[in-house]
Amino acid sequence: MAKNISPYKHVINSQQFDEKFIKKFFELTDYMKKHENEVEGELKHKIVSLLFYQPSTRTRFSFEAAAKLLGACTLMTESAELFSSVSKGESLEDTIKIVNGYSDFIVLRHKENDSSDRAASVSKVPIINAGSGTGQHPTQALLDLYTIYNNFKRTRNLKIAVVGDLARGRTVNSLVYLLSRYDGNEFYFVAPENCRIKEGITEHLDENHIRYIETTDLNSVLKKVDVVYMTRIQKEYFDDLEEYQKAKGIFVINKANIKLMKKDAILMHPLPRVDEIAPEVDSDPRAKYFEQARNGLNVRMAILKMLNDNNKK
Ligand code: CP
Repeated sequence: MAKNISPYKHVINSQQFDEKFIKKFFELTDYMKKHENEVEGELKHKIVSLLFYQPSTRTRFSFEAAAKLLGACTLMTESAELFSSVSKGESLEDTIKIVNGYSDFIVLRHKENDSSDRAASVSKVPIINAGSGTGQHPTQALLDLYTIYNNFKRTRNLKIAVVGDLARGRTVNSLVYLLSRYDGNEFYFVAPENCRIKEGITEHLDENHIRYIETTDLNSVLKKVDVVYMTRIQKEYFDDLEEYQKAKGIFVINKANIKLMKKDAILMHPLPRVDEIAPEVDSDPRAKYFEQARNGLNVRMAILKMLNDNNKK
């Protein structure tokens, strides 16, 4: 098993991971995949607190399952805004300091983009960003990249279409930053006008001389790319529901247009989906979103193991 793979204390954003780290991290993830039921001593007597201020199925369940497979106990609050003392006006910082006293790790999902930075600034135990507003979802990016790597045996020289709500999708930001570390990757950003990719991302790509185009011609993009990464229109972040209605349902993958994808291309989605991938394509061998979600378990086992080793020193 790979040991001492990085000096990281916290997992805050995907820019913190470099190629050298990712290579070793994927070896550790492979190990976790192969030995999922043989590693329960790794985090024995540790406590992983799951502090979720926004809803989650995949991230919450997979972190809890990962912690338990490694032998840790979990403490959990869903809807933390309602069911913790935040409802009485407690600040995030105070909550983190208090939960520190009962935990060895804190997995945090929160609506504010800077929530994990703020939490890490007052935390003695590792903070793991499990989704911060419209900003970042770094553990999702690691499992997305791991899924790409498992399918292509490479993470470079790929053409990637990113489709949907590119303005608000935190998984989009984290994945683009991660993929932009590798030579030869090219991006096709396909979005409704009110969901276009953030300027901060395109500036980052420009600065690093990485090729990308913005287009609304999904069908022509489908013929060219290796990865189609669909995303949901993020209704919860729209103040004006008319704007949401304008964006919803424009870009959809179904039985008709999946035929345009290359035979060895893959179709991904961080999930949950609403209507952007028709269930009729789930049985297509290129549909990888359930495999992608399952990879989240082993990636999160590797994250907990890595942080535990780093923080032993
Ligand atoms: N992909 C993802 O973050 O899903 P959940 O919101 O269900 O955790």
